[in-house]
Parts: sequence; structure tokens; C-alpha cells
Amino acid sequence: MRSPLDELIAARPAFGGSTEAEELVSITHRSLRKGDIDWLEVGAGDGGNLRYLMSELSAGRTFRVIALEPAAPAGRIEGATWLKLRVEDYRPDRQFDWMNVRHSAYYMDDPVAEMWRLSSSLRPDASIALTHWSRDCVLHRLHVAICGDQVDGPTSGIEDIAQRLMSVGGLDVSDIERTETVLNVEHVAEDDEVASALYELARRGHTPLDPVANRAERVRDMLAAMPDPGRRLNGVMVIRRAR
Ligand SMILES: C[S@@+](CC[C@H](N)C(=O)[O-])C[C@H]1O[C@@H](n2cnc3c(N)ncnc32)[C@H](O)[C@@H]1O
Repeated sequence: MRSPLDELIAARPAFGGSTEAEELVSITHRSLRKGDIDWLEVGAGDGGNLRYLMSELSAGRTFRVIALEPAAPAGRIEGATWLKLRVEDYRPDRQFDWMNVRHSAYYMDDPVAEMWRLSSSLRPDASIALTHWSRDCVLHRLHVAICGDQVDGPTSGIEDIAQRLMSVGGLDVSDIERTETVLNVEHVAEDDEVASALYELARRGHTPLDPVANRAERVRDMLAAMPDPGRRLNGVMVIRRAR
């Protein structure tokens, strides 16, 4: 069976390039102090987006990075320690100045519980930046269409995660900063990998799926019936421990 990373890499041409890269740089730049920074990257993927963030934020900062990634081979970024781990299995042995969770919470058993647990390893004034799809994102709408009414916590929208984090207490959650990019709808129609990635995600969300003969065709039909099928909407929020 392929890993989530394999699925996503295969589907990347249709999902589009790096979304919200500039927004994430600006949010991190605003909130992260200068100096020596202990950084935790949760679900680092192939490291490309992390490498970009580091290079854009490097003025006045030196990074010591722990990169968690259950699927990718280790050691792609200088100065980073790669751990082949799911976040659920990670027991921090240090405090961090910044944690970046970019499009990896979909795969966690319970992202709210994980954010809460990770927050106990934040230094005072340190933060977690969580990037996740919005309820209105075309990918989330496709996900809901595949799962029916069975969509559960991990794969719900960033708005739902924010609400749940606030109701847990003990954390301050910023407003969600929204970003919009375009899904290459024509490419999705030609590329079976997107259907495969979405069905894999639905299966990881513990949704019992009906067997479907032609998943790609079904995804194409769902997209064709959808208003605004090109709208990829994501959100970024910053989570801190309440004082
Ligand atoms: C959509 S990719 C995002 C990669 C990277 N953060 C980026 O922005 O390019 C999600 C990543 O999370 C990883 N992942 C899956 N389950 C995870 C878990 N339980 N804990 C941490 N990472 C996980 C996947 O292997 C995949 O590489």
C-alpha cells in the first residue's frame, strides 16, 4: 500500500504548486522572534516547503530543526534531524520556539489532542502554525462527497479544528488567515491519482467506504456537479498556550 506522501506526490500536478507559501512566511516572520530557534516540523513531507520557509526566515535566525515524517527518507535539510515517526509517537525531549504543521493534520488520529499535547513543549511566547483546508475548499467538498455524512474530526475544516481547540481551553487561537489558490480542474479530469489520494484519505478518516468501481470517474462527476470547482481554500492559524 502506498503512503499518504506517495499518494500526494503522485497527485501533485493536479493539486497545484505550493499554496500559501508567502502567507506562511509572513505569518511566521511576524510571530517568531530572532536568534537561535528550536523548530518542530510535523509531517515534513519531502522537505521542500520547509526548506523554503527556512531560507526566507533566515535573516537574524539560526534554526535547529526536528522534522517528523513517517514516510519520507531522512536527512534532506542541513541542520535538521529527521525522525521517521508519526506525531502520535513522538515524545519531545526539549522545548520549541516554533512548530509548523502544514497540511499534515488530516492524517492524525486526533489533531486537537495532538496540538494540545505539543503545546506543552512550547516555550513561553512560542507558537504552533497550523495550515489546513477550509470547509469551503474544493478538496474538502470532494472529501465530504466521498465520505457522505461520515466526515470526522481529523478531516474536517480548519474552522472546526479552531472551534474544538477553543472549547478545550488552555490555548489561545488566532483568527484564521485565509488563502485561495486554484485547483487544476482539467488536470484532475485526466489524472486518476487525485481520486486515489482522496479515497486513501477518506479511508484513513476511518470512514467505511462503499466499494466503487471507478473512483476517478466518480470524482470527475462530483467536480462537474460542483459550483466553483477550482477553489482551493486553506487557512492558517497560530496556536499559543494561554497565560
Ligand atoms: C500533504 S503532506 C504535507 C507535507 C509538508 N508539510 C508540506 O507542506 O509540503 C502531509 C505529510 O504528513 C505526513 N504524515 C502522515 N501522517 C502523519 C502523522 N500521523 N504524523 C506526522 N506526519 C504525518 C505524510 O506522510 C505527508 O508527508
